[in-house]
Amino acid sequence: MRGYLVAMVLSAVFLYYALHCILWGTNVSWIPAVEMKRRNHGQPCLSKPAFASLLRFQQFHPFLCAADFKKIASLYGSDKFDLPYGIRTSGEHFRMALSRLQSCDLFDESDNSVPCKKCVVVGNGGVLKNKSLGERIDSYDVIIRMNSGPVLGHEGDVGRRTTFRLFYPESVFSDPDHNDPNSTVILTAFKPLDLKWLWELLMGGKINTNGFWKKPAVNLIYRPDQIRILDPFIIRTATYDLLHFPKVFPPNQKPKHPTTGIIAITLAFHICHEVHLAGFRYNFSDLQSPLHYYGNATMSLMNKNAYHNVSAEQLFLKDIIERNFVINLTPD
Ligand SMILES: *[C@@H]1O[C@H](CO)[C@@H](O)[C@H](O)[C@H]1NC(C)=O
Ligand SMILES: *[C@@H]1O[C@H](CO)[C@@H](O)[C@H](O)[C@H]1NC(C)=O
Ligand SMILES: *[C@@H]1O[C@H](CO)[C@@H](O)[C@H](O)[C@H]1NC(C)=O
Ligand SMILES: *[C@@H]1O[C@H](CO)[C@@H](O)[C@H](O)[C@H]1NC(C)=O
Ligand SMILES: *[C@@H]1O[C@H](CO)[C@@H](O)[C@H](O)[C@H]1NC(C)=O
Repeated sequence: MRGYLVAMVLSAVFLYYALHCILWGTNVSWIPAVEMKRRNHGQPCLSKPAFASLLRFQQFHPFLCAADFKKIASLYGSDKFDLPYGIRTSGEHFRMALSRLQSCDLFDESDNSVPCKKCVVVGNGGVLKNKSLGERIDSYDVIIRMNSGPVLGHEGDVGRRTTFRLFYPESVFSDPDHNDPNSTVILTAFKPLDLKWLWELLMGGKINTNGFWKKPAVNLIYRPDQIRILDPFIIRTATYDLLHFPKVFPPNQKPKHPTTGIIAITLAFHICHEVHLAGFRYNFSDLQSPLHYYGNATMSLMNKNAYHNVSAEQLFLKDIIERNFVINLTPD
């Protein structure tokens, strides 16, 4: 009788896995996933940051952990929002992607020695060109960059070090030359497909490239232990608390989402004691000025985006600079 039961249970487990594989269209590896747990993050910073009044929770852990992301989601209300600002209908996608990652730590041991971190968020703006801010940027405890803003070939203007780099499937580097092995890369998931894409890449399976607004990378240049998934709470905070975007848009308008730059600043507010900015200024009256510090795109390409509200973001930046919540390294 007992052996019969065991056999039943085993075949049920097998069936579950088989179904799983069929549903996800690939072979699930039998290597057990590492159960990610938060580790002790060193000493907390006891002095209050200048921007403290902007935040509801200053010590919020910004990365999802496989072991407790559902608990954290219900604690902070992320179970009441769909992607991109919550996990409500995509819990399974989050679970699958997280099951392939190896860490949800914020800083590694060597970085834990500095309790109050001084951070610089480096935007991709053309204003960084020829300013030779590289050495200055490299002197911060934490350097946050975004998308495919390169370091390679631009060290004099933007520095060499990268602590964190935010990305999404359509913006991630695919050339291994751009992988700094010391940096941690953070997926900002906007749709369930983004999580499926990450999972597929980590499984080494075939990538489905349909459903993206631009062809996503089909290879991953980063080690699994370098990758984190940003808690949607951070993006929600950027959208509603910092940019004050409406919760509902008229049916003829696409909902506006924050750009990666504003998400990166919001992340910095949650993990840093002091935040400085570089590369966040755009000259809207000069359409021929460079859009980015790299490549040849000009400001004329800037306004063609229906998903962001750049003027709202510029107002927000102006406000936090004027109130001395942040220091702007590239005022002109
Ligand atoms: C930067 O310097 C280079 C070389 O001196 C020059 O050709 C280029 O026009 C400059 N770019 C900007 C945006 O000032
Ligand atoms: C990465 O870290 C190692 C060891 O600390 C250091 O020697 C190296 O210069 C770092 N590389 C970059 C690009 O920061
Ligand atoms: C923006 O560009 C215009 C036209 O080139 C120039 O006159 C103006 O000084 C620039 N403004 C800033 C703030 O750089
Ligand atoms: C930018 O333009 C220059 C000169 O026209 C060209 O040599 C270079 O390849 C272009 N760079 C990119 C990234 O398109
Ligand atoms: C963008 O933000 C500005 C400033 O908050 C607001 O006045 C404007 O209506 C917004 N535009 C859109 C299309 O949401």
